[in-house]
Amino acid sequence: MGRLRWWHLPQVLPVERQLFSPEPWSERLFWSELGQVDTRHYLVALRGEDVVGYAGLCDYPDEAFVQTLAVAPHAQGEGLGTRLLDALLVEAARRGQRVVSLEVRADNDPALRLYTRHGFRRTHLRRGYYPGGVDALVLTRRS
Ligand SMILES: CC(C)(COP(=O)(O)OP(=O)(O)OC[C@H]1O[C@@H](n2cnc3c(N)ncnc32)[C@H](O)[C@@H]1OP(=O)(O)O)[C@@H](O)C(=O)NCCC(=O)NCCS
Repeated sequence: MGRLRWWHLPQVLPVERQLFSPEPWSERLFWSELGQVDTRHYLVALRGEDVVGYAGLCDYPDEAFVQTLAVAPHAQGEGLGTRLLDALLVEAARRGQRVVSLEVRADNDPALRLYTRHGFRRTHLRRGYYPGGVDALVLTRRS
């Protein structure tokens, strides 16, 4: 696990489109995120030279926010998502954040299980937030 850098993006973008269509992040958005070095913390999981996962945290004044968490389909179910999330939570704690939030589709069972196991609890529902009218859940973890 290392820091996500701009040279990983050619591998990240196809995974992003595969996992998050119809609303994947654009290359421009990744560049913008990676450019905000003070408040963002992005990680990449590599297998050899291949990107198999990535995740990012935003450090707001009063809470940290999980911006994204992704594991390539062929590498899912092996604990990588858990390791990426653990690493983001360590970083949030290092920055003195006791509250970490995130937003997830209400129908994303694997992600919801992962977050629940890490102590995240539902605090808010944004009805019809995602394309197709799927609700968004805001989850929060307090430590
Ligand atoms: C959500 C996501 C990041 C989880 O990543 P992952 O690497 O598959 O997660 P993990 O492997 O850590 O955990 C998933 C399951 O695999 C199991 N697992 C962990 N290590 C394992 C191993 N070595 N072998 C087999 N299974 C294992 C875990 O117990 C867990 O099972 P459970 O959820 O039924 O308890 C991934 O599914 C993903 O990228 N989804 C699409 C994008 C997405 O929805 N992102 C979140 C947006 S908010």
